[in-house]
Amino acid sequence: MKLLIIGGGGREHALAWRLAQSPRVKTVFVAPGNGGTACSPRMQNVDITNLHDLANFARNEGIAYTVVGPEAPLAAGVVDIFREQGLKIFGPSQAAAQLESSKDFAKAFMVRHHIPTAAYQTFTDAEQAKAYIRQQGAPIVVKADGLAAGKGVIVAETEQQALDAVDSMLGDGSFGQAGARVVIEEFLTGEEASFIVMCDGNTIVPMASSQDHKRLLDNDQGPNTGGMGAYSPAPVVSPALHERIMREVIEPTIDGMKKDGIPFTGFLYAGLMIGDGHDATRPLKVLEYNCRMGDPETQPIVMRIRNDLATVFEDAVEGRLQPHAIDWDPRTALGVVVAAHNYPATPRTGDVISQLPADTTHCVTFHAGTTLRDGQLYTSGGRVLCVTGLADTVEAARTMVYDAVQQVQLDGMQYRTDIAWRALQASA
Ligand code: AMP
Ligand code: GLY
Repeated sequence: MKLLIIGGGGREHALAWRLAQSPRVKTVFVAPGNGGTACSPRMQNVDITNLHDLANFARNEGIAYTVVGPEAPLAAGVVDIFREQGLKIFGPSQAAAQLESSKDFAKAFMVRHHIPTAAYQTFTDAEQAKAYIRQQGAPIVVKADGLAAGKGVIVAETEQQALDAVDSMLGDGSFGQAGARVVIEEFLTGEEASFIVMCDGNTIVPMASSQDHKRLLDNDQGPNTGGMGAYSPAPVVSPALHERIMREVIEPTIDGMKKDGIPFTGFLYAGLMIGDGHDATRPLKVLEYNCRMGDPETQPIVMRIRNDLATVFEDAVEGRLQPHAIDWDPRTALGVVVAAHNYPATPRTGDVISQLPADTTHCVTFHAGTTLRDGQLYTSGGRVLCVTGLADTVEAARTMVYDAVQQVQLDGMQYRTDIAWRALQASA
């Protein structure tokens, strides 16, 4: 069969890589794809971004089903457009994607369905927002309501930073529609984990646990990014905590969406803050929902899938997912992101990338912001590569991946040297 993946990042390259290994798959089309998907076996880039044109492509090409990677096409209603035309697609409807596309929607939903999250209030008026900040004090968190490509959250350590964030979101319009409303919420402490499931509307299939590294620099310093590296499994998500997350967060979310008349299909990603204490009682709160897989969490997660992912997605779009549909490799997968010069502020593009490590069965370089021109790879985005390896231990995976990362030649490249430090600390 022929499949279509919408997106062009590391997440989409990783999904395409796993799907292309299925004996049932002839070609995975990736729209728009990147320099990695341009030269991988059984993958083909498609230079289409308009959602109606993508639906036409899927019909004309006889695509068995489409998988959507990023949030923007989901929030723009790509799933509704495909379904109206009888085309199979895996992802949430535009209405369901509001769990990610509107923080205010997500917070009100969580309160309505008793799903644990930070206390909050929503404002459209800057003066009222500021009065609330002065009353609550710092630290406090200010979030633009809409999609802001990972830049809409300010964790303010001082009251002044929070007031400035309100001004820049509600005041000068620099966030556009995304900042027309702000959510101001309680500052939470603890350890973050990404908990992702797939759902066909009824059956829930948990993905392996994972942990991202959001800050640019080692020791979780520097600005927030889209994610600088991830690994799976995340030891913080013990079996007892896994069970609690399913019962306290995931199941009430899927049930709540059903009750609200907007059943959720697709990937549901709960970004969690896990406070200190024993697993049975430690605080567990939702920081955010995403309605898609994480990037870079996908890269290590798909490395651990042992069975045919193409069949799993087929069952999902047909509404016949089985609860244990995925056979997980018990080993650890770890991915390190190589980012461009000056990422995340204003990443430089157009740099030559060379000396990419050769892929092996256990170590693969997934591409993100790369483009292939006349046989040469160039950077075209902030996050450029995610070198991902699978090994018996966290240490072994880490050594393998950093050996490969160090071969890469790219002027101004940045990467963290401490991916999975929490897992190593936990096993020490
Ligand atoms: P979000 O896009 O909502 O996940 O926020 C991005 C990052 O900001 C999260 O991964 C956390 O590191 C941080 N963050 C968000 N909300 C809070 C909160 N209420 N308390 C502390 N940190 C937060
Ligand atoms: N890595 C975080 C995200 O995909 O939202």
